[in-house]
Amino acid sequence: MCGIVGYLGPREAYPIIINGLQRLEYRGYDSAGVVLASNNTLNVYKTKGKVADLKNIADNNNTKGFLGMGHTRWATHGVPNDVNSHPHVSNSGNLVIVHNGIIENYDTIKKELIKRGYVFHSDTDTEVLINLIEEVKIKNNCKLGKAVQLALTNVVGAYAIAVIDNNDPNTLIVARLGSPIAIGIGENNSEFFVASDASPFIEYTKDAIYLEEEELAIIRLGKDINVRKIYDDSEVETNIQELKLNLEQIEKGGYEHFMLKEIHEQPKAILDTYRGRLLADQGIIKMGSVDNHIAKFLNANRIIIVACGTSWHAGLVAEYLFEDLARIPVEVEYASEFRYRNPVINNNDIIIAISQSGETADTLAAIKLAKSKGAFVFGVCNVVGSSIARETDTGAYTHAGPEIGVASTKAFTTQITVLALMALKLGNLKGEISNSNLNNYIQEMSLIPSKVEEALKTNNEIEKIASIFKDAPNCLYLGRGYSFPVALEGALKLKEISYIHAEGYPAAEMKHGPIALIDESMPVVIIATKSGHYDKVVSNIQEIKSRKGKIIAVVTKGDTIVKELADHIIEVPDTVEPFTPLLTTIPLQLLSYHIAVMRGCNVDQPRNLAKSVTVE
Ligand code: AGP
Repeated sequence: MCGIVGYLGPREAYPIIINGLQRLEYRGYDSAGVVLASNNTLNVYKTKGKVADLKNIADNNNTKGFLGMGHTRWATHGVPNDVNSHPHVSNSGNLVIVHNGIIENYDTIKKELIKRGYVFHSDTDTEVLINLIEEVKIKNNCKLGKAVQLALTNVVGAYAIAVIDNNDPNTLIVARLGSPIAIGIGENNSEFFVASDASPFIEYTKDAIYLEEEELAIIRLGKDINVRKIYDDSEVETNIQELKLNLEQIEKGGYEHFMLKEIHEQPKAILDTYRGRLLADQGIIKMGSVDNHIAKFLNANRIIIVACGTSWHAGLVAEYLFEDLARIPVEVEYASEFRYRNPVINNNDIIIAISQSGETADTLAAIKLAKSKGAFVFGVCNVVGSSIARETDTGAYTHAGPEIGVASTKAFTTQITVLALMALKLGNLKGEISNSNLNNYIQEMSLIPSKVEEALKTNNEIEKIASIFKDAPNCLYLGRGYSFPVALEGALKLKEISYIHAEGYPAAEMKHGPIALIDESMPVVIIATKSGHYDKVVSNIQEIKSRKGKIIAVVTKGDTIVKELADHIIEVPDTVEPFTPLLTTIPLQLLSYHIAVMRGCNVDQPRNLAKSVTVE
């Protein structure tokens, strides 16, 4: 995610933009920039760092102008640095863009534009887009709005963009596909605000239009906004609404906490993570960072995964994925243990380091140790250009967007998404998965975002269950196979945000001691989906029931057997076993969230915890 802000009207644009960017920093904060149009000049200031760093630069320069745009970045293509920061200017110097999203086919477009003499200064997909718009504008000799509309018909990906033309300072163009754009409207169309959400302009106007998918708006001072469909340039009826949300509610997308917002962002986060990698129409998985080192992966005798916390749980899921689908032996290590136990690392070992923040000290140290022993290290991170991303030999980013809540949610499911794609790709290349089976997995993965949406719809039932168990002193989480790491993750979620003691176990392990804990005061959360040792798990449920344990079961939609045994069931859609963690974790996230809220805990910033553990 990134944050974009634009202004066109009688006020000085700069203070509106800078304040607006500061309100949007929750959407991304690794670099920032602003452009102001004044007296036929475009003044662009941009820098790696936060909006405050940008302000320190721009304040000492010419910030005059009644038309301007700003951007606070969450890098997806190109590491955070000054050159890759937005805004991006076209080769002529006349067109400027700010962009939130991912252009999947930017590489193809870039090659074509280079053939036509365009030069590029950054590694971003956005700079390609503004030069495509310029090329279309020149070739068709048309106005900016038409050029943007035509250019976007050639673009594959997700975007929210704002574009201006130095030669037309009374016009501002915005367009969206997959990323939000709000347009604030001043009295009598006397001024206009555009932003990723309404927080930058809520104090100036409550009249707004939210662009729908595949819509473009041509904004001109003193005129009604002209909204058009991108694919056929047809006119769209505009629907001006009066905003009711306050500033804080807007930043959280209307949710009470960032954690709940991020739980509900998972369908889009998973989609954004496999976007451009899962080519469902071709039945292939494209991952450049794996392809570029494919010999290493195919000859690997072992994969060692190093991580901490939730990322370590994603690593455990990956152990099942790589061994099950690609037949590659895997060891999963707590980074904090690995770094000090003088581990044996062989030449053909591959290290995979998993980290949302990319700054976890133990994981970083484990990587450095592995590299000092000559190992090849692959990173799975969510923060582009983070320390771990830079320390690893290569890697694959999750595209979850900023995760503000300390309890990791969308990072977990997007990490599993990346790791599943890797395991499927390698399994197919090693001949363990046939092309037709690979295609079946690819088609199923493309259904996961909608299945996560469906799993999220159990929120109200889960809230009721939470009210029953919110005062339990302890809780057990059980799962088998792919669901065992999910049980551990569910227990961690409950522990870290509600402060209830919780433990995760392999379901079959109960008889080796923990079952002594079971009595009528012990809630047991058990994952009993159809795909995944179902009959064995049903037996485990019966063992618990016979000892009066209170059973909360996560089951496959339509289950009738566990329904008769458990005290409460939560249904998730069916999927193939390797993908079940992407669905079964959802109710566990919601359960811990609601219990924590009911206990009056600080859900987004639990006691004693930090979002990124940069110390030992
Ligand atoms: C998870 O909810 C916790 N916040 C914590 O365990 C976290 O997963 C761990 O600190 C690792 O962080 P990382 O993914 O940024 O490396």
